[in-house]
Amino acid sequence: MSDDKSFKPSEPTDMQAPKPAGAALTNAQGDAVASNENSLTAGARGPVLLQDHHLLERMAHFNRERVPERVVHAKGSGAFGTFRVTRAIPELTVAKLFQQAGTECRMLARFSTVAGEKGYADTVRDPRGFALKVYTEDGNWDLVGNNTPVFFVRDPVKFQDFIHSQKRHPATGRRSATMMFDFWGLRPETVHQTLYIFGDRGIPRSYRFMNGYGSHTYSLWNAQGQRFYVKWHFHTQQGVQNLTEEEATEIAGINPDYAFQDLHDAIERGEYPKWRVSIQVMPEAEAETYHINPFDLTKVWPHADYPLMEIGEFELNENPRNYFAEIEQAAFEPSNMPRGFGASPDKMLQGRLMSYADAHRYRIGINYAALPVNRAASPVNTYNRDGQTRFDGNYGDAPVYEPNSFGGPVASGDAVQEPPIRIDGNADRYGWPQTDEDYYAQPGALYRLMSPDEQARTHGNFARNLGGTPAFVQERYLGHLDKIDPALGRGVREQIEQMKADPAPSIRTILSETHTYAAGGRLSA
Ligand code: HEM
Repeated sequence: MSDDKSFKPSEPTDMQAPKPAGAALTNAQGDAVASNENSLTAGARGPVLLQDHHLLERMAHFNRERVPERVVHAKGSGAFGTFRVTRAIPELTVAKLFQQAGTECRMLARFSTVAGEKGYADTVRDPRGFALKVYTEDGNWDLVGNNTPVFFVRDPVKFQDFIHSQKRHPATGRRSATMMFDFWGLRPETVHQTLYIFGDRGIPRSYRFMNGYGSHTYSLWNAQGQRFYVKWHFHTQQGVQNLTEEEATEIAGINPDYAFQDLHDAIERGEYPKWRVSIQVMPEAEAETYHINPFDLTKVWPHADYPLMEIGEFELNENPRNYFAEIEQAAFEPSNMPRGFGASPDKMLQGRLMSYADAHRYRIGINYAALPVNRAASPVNTYNRDGQTRFDGNYGDAPVYEPNSFGGPVASGDAVQEPPIRIDGNADRYGWPQTDEDYYAQPGALYRLMSPDEQARTHGNFARNLGGTPAFVQERYLGHLDKIDPALGRGVREQIEQMKADPAPSIRTILSETHTYAAGGRLSA
């Protein structure tokens, strides 16, 4: 039943437990199977009979083994672990998790690449997903972030266009640098995140060696009804380590599941990866006057203004026993925010609050939250009933409506509630004000923080990908690089020229795309 408190995610159930050697093979109904070698036929050389239920069940189940892969972040690996609070923050939040230093809580992490499908290589240049689910006593808290502190776009209505530009070309079925740089060049708010991706951090050595970020502005609220805007940071204790494009290319050929294996094997060896958990905190009133719009996902909050406050750590110490049950069916959702946690007016975050649960209902089914890996460790008492694959007791004969006179659950009516959010203005489709249109200052600072070696590698990384796109796409994008820093634009141009002049271009030099969109929007060969 859903309110069984004794359950722990990943606890072996009968289906998970290894069977003793020689245990009787049965069909899905528990009937003993006489032969798993020979189908039932009419005569020694005759055709198969329809009454061979074992065979039919095997074929039919096999045809339905796949659920749709995630539309983004399809390839990911993960592990269970322990989230530990090192500093209590009751002054910021009523969340039970953060009331006492030393509190520990079971959790799940899933790391992923974004644009490729489930069979893609782990070492491609791409952001990495960094999704956490903490099974707190107040319910599940999910923080679904990336390994970069900013994102490409800042309005959810542009997310689908952005992702289409990263996925496969409609004619060729291949990923296309032209589509990517065309979109990025037309949307200058993307340049900050793009610089991260074409810098060294665009290919982490493996999931253990990268930081994670909530990226969005979230909030926390306390018992006095005060709200604080918060950015979440997860710093790897293994040290940030990256692969060069040459190393990544080689590994992709030898072991496309390299990051999967690295995480799994480290945990098996008892080398549990750890991350430090910190927050930046902005009192609610400051959000109105701070010189950067704190709800613009393409910008960071400088640490000089909002220093990091360390409040916890987590380690991953248990591999899943079954990848499909515990990682493929894991359903992370930014809307999982127990009491004391909250959202913010960040438009992208608002979009995500709807999108993930919707995706899970499609991908896994309406009862996804009751699956062991997604089930809260706290009691779950809803009036949701029935639906496909209701595999638990469906609340038995408990009341199915509220209010009722028969003892069903009632809303807590807590004295302490999330403080109201003040909203004013007319409903309209607002553009970003002029003051938010500085796309280049923060990427410029990021570029100038890079060592000369990293700058040189970044020039090459851009050049290899941008160099094969049509001239108008290239020129438009180089114009943005010039504005980030003239040395960046210059460095990338020089690299492109060198590659074009190379009489024997290396296999890594991607300099032409045969299929692309012409400027007029038609496909050209
Ligand atoms: C996965 C939508 C922005 C991080 C997904 C999925 C969807 C989605 C539909 C697949 C969910 C599933 O099938 O399980 C969106 C939309 C966005 C957005 C509509 C913007 C409006 C972001 C941003 C981040 C992010 C800004 C990071 C800061 C992730 C991660 C996953 C994911 C890490 C994989 C979660 C897992 O491991 O299962 N996103 N996304 N997304 N997204 Fe987003």
